[in-house]
Amino acid sequence: DDIEHFASILSTPETSLLTTLATSSTSSRMPKPVDASELDVFNKDWMNKYHGRSACVLKPKSTKEVSEIMRYCHQRKLAIVPQGGNTGLVGGGVPVRDEVIVNLGSLNNIRSFDEVSGTLVADAGCILEALDNHIAEKGYMMPLDLGAKGSCQIGGNVATNAGGLRFLRYGSLHGNVLGLEVVLPNGDILDGLSTLRKDNTGFDLKQLFIGSEGTIGLITAVSIVTPRRPAAVNVAVFAVDSFEAVQQVFSTVKRHCGEILSAFEFFDSQSLNMVKSHATASIKDPFQERHPFYVLIETSGSRKEHDDEKLTELLEELMESSQITDGVLAQDETQLQSLWALRESIPEACGKLGSVFKYDLSMPVPKMNELVEDMRGRFKERDMLGKGKPVKEVVGYGHIGDGNLHINIVAESYAPEIESVIEPYIYEWVSREKGSISAEHGLGRMKGQKIGYSKSQTSVALMEDLKKLLDPDNLLNPYKYLPSSYR
Ligand code: FAD
Ligand code: MLT
Ligand code: ZN
Repeated sequence: DDIEHFASILSTPETSLLTTLATSSTSSRMPKPVDASELDVFNKDWMNKYHGRSACVLKPKSTKEVSEIMRYCHQRKLAIVPQGGNTGLVGGGVPVRDEVIVNLGSLNNIRSFDEVSGTLVADAGCILEALDNHIAEKGYMMPLDLGAKGSCQIGGNVATNAGGLRFLRYGSLHGNVLGLEVVLPNGDILDGLSTLRKDNTGFDLKQLFIGSEGTIGLITAVSIVTPRRPAAVNVAVFAVDSFEAVQQVFSTVKRHCGEILSAFEFFDSQSLNMVKSHATASIKDPFQERHPFYVLIETSGSRKEHDDEKLTELLEELMESSQITDGVLAQDETQLQSLWALRESIPEACGKLGSVFKYDLSMPVPKMNELVEDMRGRFKERDMLGKGKPVKEVVGYGHIGDGNLHINIVAESYAPEIESVIEPYIYEWVSREKGSISAEHGLGRMKGQKIGYSKSQTSVALMEDLKKLLDPDNLLNPYKYLPSSYR
């Protein structure tokens, strides 16, 4: 049967195959069926919002094993969910029904690193932080960084085209990824693991897979260009009185240190309250008083004295012009980490307080806080927001330097009555402002049917055609990403 066949493909079925199903096989290599609860961690997402009921998790250890699994599933018309570190925030990495889960965690070798060009080639299942530590020893860093770095995998990052905290400086994975090895839905291996910076021979096929969220192929390895690790890093957090001032600060910061700026993040006072009360690590507010908004900036340069000089001038102007009301500049690595923790702990703290409705939006910066206030207003009007109410808090934060706002609505539960106050209202709002309903988290299960708010009919039709060409039976990550996949 199918389980026996999967066991025959895997080099170590004892550890690479987890199933709740019993087989008639008497082979000692055949794993014993496990209790359904052992598959929970693969069947539910990081937010505990999306739940599947797959009876089978496969953890291949080589591209060949992935290819054989895909070929077999293609022949038998079995649906598959590719899964990386399962930190995705739109329900893309967990099954909707009983799809076979192909978890990439055991495909985790670093294949090569070129110390001159900074080109890294790694298996898809390598953890982002492990890759960063590996190349740090050689003076390099990964061009992306996210709060989930300790669990997310480079294959998952590429599949979601993750943005993160340093997008502003190092840009998109569409620019940094040089090549991909991908197993197509029919099992064929697309060997595009180039390390060339320049290559204009035909369509750039790898771009199709960056951000395709496991719907047209399973990424098994990534070639990526990495920047030098900066010698001097500074982090400062500013307290700001109004959202207008946040934008002024952005202009001033770019004028003084545009060329060394590596992050420009913001969060509101509700976000800081959340972190102080609910983050696992104890996090201290560096300011005496609470302020309406906070901005975190990071600079990364090669000469500390140069950067310090620029920062001193920046701080003088910000204080003198009253664009900021207070500010702290990290004096050492520990302080630097604790300032970053104020921002990075927001998602975790929200999750600790309740069920989180997450919105990840690209939109004109001047409109961002208006939308956050508007959402608070909608819940207040309905007497739904506050202590003892179904909605506990609405927080706004994000990568303001990239025009990317995150709104988290923390609620008692994922009740449809709460969702209906938010949607489709929020998508219509963003669409009117010509923004995007997914800046960086992707579409997944949550937003596949909503793609029309951000893309034209012609674009969606072309995407549907591409999906049909590569996966005519809709076996790869079904019920997600594109409207027709939900059928
Ligand atoms: P998963 O969650 O396992 O999968 C995500 C999607 O990719 C699914 O559709 C899955 O099917 C597909 N997939 C995974 N691996 C492969 C593969 N090898 N081949 C084909 N398809 C695959 N995202 C940002 O963009 N910016 C952030 O700043 C950010 N911060 C985060 C902070 C926290 C605390 C958390 C929990 C998440 C954050 N995320 C962020 C979202 C998430 O971490 C990223 O989307 C991440 O890139 C997902 O990687 P993963 O390995 O966990 O993938
Ligand atoms: C972030 O910027 O912190 C991430 O995108 C995660 C999130 O918004 O929850
Ligand atoms: Zn983000």
